[in-house]
Amino acid sequence: MTTSPRRYHITTFGCQMNKADSERMAGILENMGFEWSEDPNDASLILYNTCTIRDNAEQKVYSYLGRQAKRKQEQPDLTLIVAGCVAQQEGEQLLRRVPELDLVMGPQHANRLEDLLQQVFDGNQVVATEEVHIMEDITKPRRDSKVTAWVNVIYGCNERCTYCVVPNVRGVEQSRTPEAIRAEMEELGRQGYKEVTLLGQNIDAYGRDLPGATAEGRHQHTLTDLLYYVHDVPGIERLRFATSHPRYFTERLIRACAELPKVCELFHIPFQSGDNDILKAMSRGYTQEKYRRIIDTIRRYMPDAAISADAIVGFPGETEEQFQNTLRLVEDIRFDLLNTAAYSPRPGTPAALWENQLSEEVKSDRLQRLNHLVNVKAAQASQRYFGRIEEVLVEDQNPKDPTQVMGRTRGNRLTFFTGDINELKGKIVPVKITQVRPFSLTGEALSVACC
Ligand code: SAH
Ligand code: SF4
Ligand code: F3S
Repeated sequence: MTTSPRRYHITTFGCQMNKADSERMAGILENMGFEWSEDPNDASLILYNTCTIRDNAEQKVYSYLGRQAKRKQEQPDLTLIVAGCVAQQEGEQLLRRVPELDLVMGPQHANRLEDLLQQVFDGNQVVATEEVHIMEDITKPRRDSKVTAWVNVIYGCNERCTYCVVPNVRGVEQSRTPEAIRAEMEELGRQGYKEVTLLGQNIDAYGRDLPGATAEGRHQHTLTDLLYYVHDVPGIERLRFATSHPRYFTERLIRACAELPKVCELFHIPFQSGDNDILKAMSRGYTQEKYRRIIDTIRRYMPDAAISADAIVGFPGETEEQFQNTLRLVEDIRFDLLNTAAYSPRPGTPAALWENQLSEEVKSDRLQRLNHLVNVKAAQASQRYFGRIEEVLVEDQNPKDPTQVMGRTRGNRLTFFTGDINELKGKIVPVKITQVRPFSLTGEALSVACC
């Protein structure tokens, strides 16, 4: 094996879980003496952390991989790794498809990267996709931001939504202990981080698998308990969490958010469809009425809370009337942000085998109509910020205008204002909003309020 220069590159696809896993794997590589290379072509180790939520996400991975596999034919000491959800889904088959690969590793193995690489450097081609207990990682992640950080609280998902590959590729739920989570946050606080987002695919399931259920069967470690347990970590000024599942969302959690000043008034609760029969076919376990009740309760406690969600159009068998029910929900609720997608059949999921699939034309027509409505509604929702004073946590310079900095409001709106990044990075600044766009804001700083 050539040891010099030992430079690595990671390209990350997919959701925040993958981003958090990549940061941990980057930390492991740096601990082993590798240095970051922005350009994959300068790196001697390339890791693709992949996503398979929809077919286009998976295809993107193959096109990136094809290019580097070709490079490896001329440069045999290049180490090529596929991690993440495509790795888990395809396993050994990936080696058949891309024989140049050195390592195929599922998401549960992210913390084992050093061990697995040792096996590669000993001359093996390695596939690590078996279900394992996720080990606590002792290496420090190499985090992209110095201001905001992700902290995993639960891995995996025990739901069985009929369209979704996540349970197949991320395995069963595994919660971290409240102590481990708090310890990681305390370290972040010491390092100067100001905001933490607690992560889980179904974060409301947090703690179900930890020992300590009460006699009535209620577990003692719920997400709500966790928020109370970690909300006062020194230095951390803001707390967020994602993703919530309407089936398990509780009023107790809403109350905690209203009560705890550091928990931001932002809720990401995917509804997927506004039609009860489609929700049933998806095995989501709630009705659109229940979803509306949740949002009403949130707004009763926090009238101005930001609400975001995910939705799928063109699920098998979805009629025009059923799609209209999704439009109606979007019309009524006034989401701040909605991630929309056309249904994509995924290997190993029940809905992919059904015969009532819709045509690509119908799916893309519905997606366009939904996106149009989302933009109109987001522009309206944004108006409420005009003239207001919002607290903005400054993260970076505006890449398009170096005289401006950018950060996020408590409701997670990207906001720009004139200022010097060297002075303001990591500070919470009151900003008077002078311009609103559907998904971002511009304003003027009033004064620096705090730390
Ligand atoms: N755990 C979260 C979402 C995880 S996946 C939840 O339960 O809501 C992120 C989003 O991808 C989902 O909310 C869904 O809207 C979308 N998605 C998942 N599978 C999909 C599929 N097969 N086709 C299209 N979109 C899909
Ligand atoms: Fe997928 Fe459903 Fe689990 Fe979300 S809750 S990750 S949509 S199976
Ligand atoms: Fe994609 Fe895996 Fe996340 S499939 S959305 S990277 S859990």
